[in-house]
Amino acid sequence: MDLGLKNKVAVITGGSAGIGLAIAQGLAAEGVHLALCARGEERLKEAVNSLRQEYGVRVIGVRADVSKREDIDRFGAGIEKEFGGADILINNAGTGSEETILEAPDEKWQYYWDLHVMAAVRLSRALAPLMRDRGGGVILNNASICATQPLYYEPIYNVTKAALVMFSKCLANELIPYNIRVNTINPGLVLTPDWQKTAKLLTEGKDITWEEYLDQIAKENAPIGRFASPEEVANLFVFLCSPRASYCVGSTYYIDGGWLKVVT
Ligand SMILES: NC(=O)c1ccc[n+]([C@@H]2O[C@H](COP(=O)([O-])OP(=O)(O)OC[C@H]3O[C@@H](n4cnc5c(N)ncnc54)[C@H](OP(=O)(O)O)[C@@H]3O)[C@@H](O)[C@H]2O)c1
Repeated sequence: MDLGLKNKVAVITGGSAGIGLAIAQGLAAEGVHLALCARGEERLKEAVNSLRQEYGVRVIGVRADVSKREDIDRFGAGIEKEFGGADILINNAGTGSEETILEAPDEKWQYYWDLHVMAAVRLSRALAPLMRDRGGGVILNNASICATQPLYYEPIYNVTKAALVMFSKCLANELIPYNIRVNTINPGLVLTPDWQKTAKLLTEGKDITWEEYLDQIAKENAPIGRFASPEEVANLFVFLCSPRASYCVGSTYYIDGGWLKVVT
């Protein structure tokens, strides 16, 4: 199926690893040019070079921490300089937390608010006018199943991801007149390097291997009995970027192997 994405320009935050990198690969395979950002320069450079080599598309990588306004401004300036704007924005960068509400200080709440919500606000504000001038665009926000079904150990993650879902809905309403489609994706368990690292740490010196540990988590939570690969999740993102998904707007799509326990 031709997804009609050739020569579009996509901006992906956190594009150097995990789901973000898989989305970058999926879009590059469709002939989409890319602007990626991440904090770690080495991994970012590696991703940029391999995408250029493998898919022959234009790719820039800007070292930026999206929880910081000045970094987002620098990323935005890099995108404008290289591409003059963008057709697709994927607000993907994010990470889990671990705390109790009674013990977490204000600073931690503020950090995750900036990372999960303000990054999406600021990048949308910078790029949506340029999308409008190009005739339209797509903004996808990567939230989490935890926005609806909280995990007990990460209340700050749950709350800020829930806020991102509501931001996404409000933005969708505001941008529909400009032919900009905004949607949210809520993934469940996705086997990214971060999960592998955590599993290795938690099983060090124990009778269980990190693979068995992850298998247990998947079987206990997702009815499908396994983690998703980043590529399986990226496929949904790529489809939603495409004009083939032209009636998809203002929605939240779950991709969770049946983990969500309620009907929404
Ligand atoms: N994996 C899952 O099971 C799962 C499930 C539901 C939702 N999600 C969501 O999916 C998104 C991606 O998760 P993932 O599992 O793919 O994570 P990951 O494997 O840890 O990759 C995260 C990517 O984001 C970058 N990043 C992290 N913090 C950043 C920051 N402050 N500024 C700029 N870039 C940053 C990382 O590079 P640097 O570290 O170099 O900055 C990396 O490129 C997150 O928003 C996460 O909440 C994941």
